[in-house]
Amino acid sequence: MNTKINPSSYDSFEEDLPQPRRKPRPTKPSKATLAFVQQQDDTRSSFQFTYKAARFEEWWLLDSLGEFYEHQWVSDVLRRVKGGKEASVYLCRAGSAIPAAQFAAAKVYRPRMLRNLKNDAAYREGRTDLDAEGRHVIKDADLHAMAKRTAYGEELRHTSWIAYEFNTLKKLHAAGADVPEPFAMQKNAILLEYIGDEFAPAPTLNEVSLEPDEVEPLFDRVLANIQILLRAGFIHGDLSAYNILYWEGNISLIDFPQVVSVTQNRNAYRIFGRDVARVCDYFTRQGLNLNPGKIASDLWQAQGLTPRPAVDVRLLDAENPQDRALWQGAEN
Ligand SMILES: Nc1ncnc2c1ncn2[C@@H]1O[C@H](COP(=O)(O)OP(=O)(O)OP(=O)(O)O)[C@@H](O)[C@H]1O
Ligand SMILES: [Mg+2]
Repeated sequence: MNTKINPSSYDSFEEDLPQPRRKPRPTKPSKATLAFVQQQDDTRSSFQFTYKAARFEEWWLLDSLGEFYEHQWVSDVLRRVKGGKEASVYLCRAGSAIPAAQFAAAKVYRPRMLRNLKNDAAYREGRTDLDAEGRHVIKDADLHAMAKRTAYGEELRHTSWIAYEFNTLKKLHAAGADVPEPFAMQKNAILLEYIGDEFAPAPTLNEVSLEPDEVEPLFDRVLANIQILLRAGFIHGDLSAYNILYWEGNISLIDFPQVVSVTQNRNAYRIFGRDVARVCDYFTRQGLNLNPGKIASDLWQAQGLTPRPAVDVRLLDAENPQDRALWQGAEN
């Protein structure tokens, strides 16, 4: 495998690594270091991929995707599709475990993704944390570690975030939503149906200007998906034209780690309203005349949910007119 450093991909991974000491002194490697290096060498010798990754990125991929390779979910990593703030997505050749698919998309989370998440608590409210198998974390010691934000606790929270994305995709796919089929999950990555072809991934909706006759049907399709989510008890939490892929006239909703519980989160309606408003922004630019507030409240009530939003004043922004209106509405 080529380990030549490609400066652009090198930079984005370098910042997550511990910085070297100013004056490195030659020391005997610890047993743990030797074991780690040995393990990397073993995995490397069997898992070789086409994608020319920078050295650190290559280690990161071997560690994050090694199990997918061992279980033959993937046979090769072809290229990096997108490097995001929280994760990078790679185009992989599908392995024999998914004979129906030619490709798969591996979403590999950056190690310190939680640090970047603003207001993590607002999304996590009402969600029990999940472990690497997607089961609820119930051990007191683990819950304590998460609450105290120890290194181990942060690892668990990180895993929980990934497990939420995977489990939500499984439920939504089974419920008939337009989401990529989820194939497998590893401690740091999920493997999904790839939307696109071997030359390019599907663009996101915001990169596309729709033909006039497809605007309305696609908007209805997005609303139908929002309803499937609500029925399943979820709000996307970061829905916009940036998290909807467009391919051959169809859409796929992506990016679910921050999914919010409809009934257990006090800010559910507010987060829901924001999702609907952002989707409406895009479709208004495509020529539709929309009333996002009414659409959100109609969808909400159609599910038999309480029309009055539950408002948590601590999360409202006094400078924002929409937030002020929400607060006044709740007071009356
Ligand atoms: N299943 C898929 N098939 C093809 N491309 C995909 C797939 N999933 C994600 N992508 C591409 O990778 C990008 C990042 O994915 P996603 O939004 O899930 O991660 P993210 O880290 O939250 O990214 P961002 O911070 O940019 O929102 C998407 O915008 C899309 O271009
Ligand atoms: Mg995204």
